[in-house]
Amino acid sequence: MEIVVFGAGSLGSLVGGLLAREHDVTLVARAGHADRVDRDGLAVTGEHEFEVSPSATSDGTELTADLAIVTVKSFDTSSAARALSSGSVDAVLSLQNGMGNEERLSEELSCPVLAGTATYGAVLDRPGRVRCTGIGEVVLGSRTGGHSAVADRIGEAFATADIETLVADDMPRRLWEKLAVNAGINPVTALARVENGAVLEEPAAELAAEAARETARVARADGVDLADETAVAALEQVAEATAGNESSMLQDVRAGRRTEVDAISGYVVDRAETVGLKAPTNRTLAAALSTWERQKNVR
Ligand code: PAF
Repeated sequence: MEIVVFGAGSLGSLVGGLLAREHDVTLVARAGHADRVDRDGLAVTGEHEFEVSPSATSDGTELTADLAIVTVKSFDTSSAARALSSGSVDAVLSLQNGMGNEERLSEELSCPVLAGTATYGAVLDRPGRVRCTGIGEVVLGSRTGGHSAVADRIGEAFATADIETLVADDMPRRLWEKLAVNAGINPVTALARVENGAVLEEPAAELAAEAARETARVARADGVDLADETAVAALEQVAEATAGNESSMLQDVRAGRRTEVDAISGYVVDRAETVGLKAPTNRTLAAALSTWERQKNVR
């Protein structure tokens, strides 16, 4: 299968590298990383150890592929969609954090847009070198739920490349559950500058759990069956499994980059307002992070 990974930072490079063992992969990445991969190949280290030679470019326009996997930051989704629409792709799969990405992609692209989640841990150590810090799973399916033949085909392509893959018919519920996990872990670890495991201990535990519970309340008001306890259990399970990892939001803060707080905590606050609820914990976390972003001039 011809696959473009659009936004090959840490997770995109890892997924692209795993897929390149079986498929014809092109990474769309920042110039330094793309040039190095194009010249010397991509080294995957950590839980997996291998080298592959995918194509790599920093120009995401006019590309042709059977599948484009989008892994850009949520605030770059629209520009990724515009670049992809200048080429020809048969299907798109979002493996991004935050909510609203699939809708934004569908606005620009006429091909099927699937939703997905990936629990692999990845760190881009330097251009051309990505470290797998935790073997996880890719779950994908129709963004509105139900069976999708396109998702079956893409799931098979992932499985052929030895990636733990599940094709699911309840992606809306899974996206809300992932949002609850991210709403609990990401802003708390980014603000406190701690690894994910810190949210399992007080006083961070109650803060993270309350952010996850608020997210579950909004999900239910949105028609998605996500109990408070399920959201908190998912948060704890991910925090335990990735205890030694730095969240993507903490990595962004450390690098002085804009974070995905708008598409995570900010999304919960906005949806809460629409359905007549309040989300004070998410509001506080979002305000603190966006204050930092403003101060750093990265918003
Ligand atoms: O954004 C992240 O870092 C990840 O989605 C997660 C699950 C919080 C693990 O670090």
